[in-house]
Amino acid sequence: MKLIDFGVREDEKPYIQEWSKDNDVEVKIVTDLLTPETVKMAQGYDGIVAYQQLPYDEKIFDTMNEYGIHVISLRNVGVDNVPIEALKKNNIRLTNVPSYSPEAIAEYSVTGLMALLRNMKHMIRKVDQHDFRWVPDIGRELNQLTVGVAGTGRIGQAAIKIYQGFGAKVIAFDKFHNSELEKQGLYVDSLDTLLKESDVVTLHIPSLGKGHTVINSQSISEMKDDAIVINTARGDLINTKDLYEAVASGKLYGAVLDVYENEVGIFNSDLTDEEFSDELLELVIKSPRFILTPHIAFYTTKAVKNMATISLNSMVDELKNGTSENEIDLNK
Ligand code: COI
Repeated sequence: MKLIDFGVREDEKPYIQEWSKDNDVEVKIVTDLLTPETVKMAQGYDGIVAYQQLPYDEKIFDTMNEYGIHVISLRNVGVDNVPIEALKKNNIRLTNVPSYSPEAIAEYSVTGLMALLRNMKHMIRKVDQHDFRWVPDIGRELNQLTVGVAGTGRIGQAAIKIYQGFGAKVIAFDKFHNSELEKQGLYVDSLDTLLKESDVVTLHIPSLGKGHTVINSQSISEMKDDAIVINTARGDLINTKDLYEAVASGKLYGAVLDVYENEVGIFNSDLTDEEFSDELLELVIKSPRFILTPHIAFYTTKAVKNMATISLNSMVDELKNGTSENEIDLNK
């Protein structure tokens, strides 16, 4: 069996090399992203592993079919950049890593929130200028707040445990109820109710597709004054302009954004010497009321190791048994 792994970063290489040695399976490591051009490197291999934020071009899957490669394993969870119809047309199976570390994302949600509640961004900027005054940057305590967790999958559940540990009142919404959380009486009956009743809303739901936002001027108008939004999920869940205006006008307190609707090509790139043309993002970066980070909630040693190795394990299962526990049902 010969595998090829695309879009591999330096920090992932040791885990892939170790897995290859331990499992006695050849894995060619490629730093390029998977495109209609680079897929040509996969000729002669049995399976493709990949991770990228760039949308996967449909032509990639025609070429895979031509080469007789019928499985692609992603090293991440989200499949919103995969053209599912092109996979079906070419009879290609898809796996992801649904649970590389829910705790990594959940811990990041509270990390960002604490930084915002204690005005850390502004305080650090002030101290950098030798301004050591307290006023007006008084903090708020998490144990006084109601945290609304939108989405109670693995990440939402991990977030609930952490927020409860801080003494916050937690409420939750999901279309599918988890029986443990139900017993605790955490569920409210709609996302609207969650937004209305929360001081802090943390999003742990998948993308609903372009244009289908859950945080926008209409929903913000229903939220509590001084509420906070945290997004470690997908950028397109939020109309960023509406959110920015709500914070700038003083309706909302602030936001923690680890994802952004136009992040592809910006996040995880060094643009220090480039002209920066995203004016909205620039406003967000400048505002002390936004904690903005480049999609790093997942980025821990535990998660990266799991992403590298679980994707390869799934590929082996697919090639040996025709299926794996992480295969995605393309008809759902
Ligand atoms: C995902 O796993 O889909 C993520 O959003 C994290 C990614 C940046 C590796």
